[in-house]
Amino acid sequence: MSLETFRLVILVWVALGAIVFFALRFIRAPFGRHTTSGWGPTLDNHLGWILMEATVLVVFFLFLREKLPPLGSPVALMAGFFVAHYLHRSLIFPWFLRTRGKQMPLLIALSAMCFNTMNGFLLGYYFAHFAEYPASWFSDWRFVCGTALFLGGAALNIYTDYRLIRLRKPGETGYVIPTGGAFEWVSCPNLLGEMIEWIGFALLSWSLPGLAFAFWTIANLAPRAWAHHRWYQEKFRAYPKHRKALIPFIW
Ligand SMILES: NC(=O)c1ccc[n+]([C@@H]2O[C@H](COP(=O)([O-])OP(=O)(O)OC[C@H]3O[C@@H](n4cnc5c(N)ncnc54)[C@H](OP(=O)(O)O)[C@@H]3O)[C@@H](O)[C@H]2O)c1
Repeated sequence: MSLETFRLVILVWVALGAIVFFALRFIRAPFGRHTTSGWGPTLDNHLGWILMEATVLVVFFLFLREKLPPLGSPVALMAGFFVAHYLHRSLIFPWFLRTRGKQMPLLIALSAMCFNTMNGFLLGYYFAHFAEYPASWFSDWRFVCGTALFLGGAALNIYTDYRLIRLRKPGETGYVIPTGGAFEWVSCPNLLGEMIEWIGFALLSWSLPGLAFAFWTIANLAPRAWAHHRWYQEKFRAYPKHRKALIPFIW
């Protein structure tokens, strides 16, 4: 594929992301607390997470192996960041979930697999065929700031995900108001962390597929954060009034 065609594919992909963003303002993606009946067949929540998230690793490697980056190169490190995130998300995170007996619509798992297939393709293909970075990239401000954002975002995402998961005792499936730390400021610090992480990745890779991924992450998670925030406000009378959805003091 030529670079021009590749860029065109990304443009169409980003346009689709914009449509999804607007659609998610009206539809609450039906998994987790927003699960409702009427979305067709369902599957076990744990299995759904593993299937959805492992897809990206398979597709990413399928394309990256067309030209593997030399060890210690900027591309190898970027691929390492990406793989580390998804190894955790697909193989570790699901085993800690306390969602016994919960189901998710097959439709959600399939649509996430489609998203992950496209994302894995775009990044794998880019790293194998178009990515070129000088060795000095490691000291470039974009790489340094992007890496700080990526690691900081990942730390916030993982820490707050596990704080949420541990709000339940094993076997419980209900919800309580999260408190302490970043939860005093916003309802969804875990989703904020994920967004910061991929904005950092876009910066450190200074690439169109990285930017498209950050855009899609925001398109998916900003409406979800708003839906979570409204859900907390509707469910708990005592929900803290000052707490914002995603961005402290602002939104
Ligand atoms: N890059 C992307 O586009 C993308 C898209 C989706 C998700 N993700 C990532 O995947 C991870 C999980 O996403 P999510 O939307 O499932 O997050 P979430 O709704 O915040 O839930 C995270 C986990 O904590 C539990 N939980 C949440 N709030 C709770 C509460 N108040 N009381 C008790 N338990 C609570 C949830 O149980 P239930 O499942 O039973 O609600 C779930 O197991 C996040 O790190 C997110 O960033 C990324």
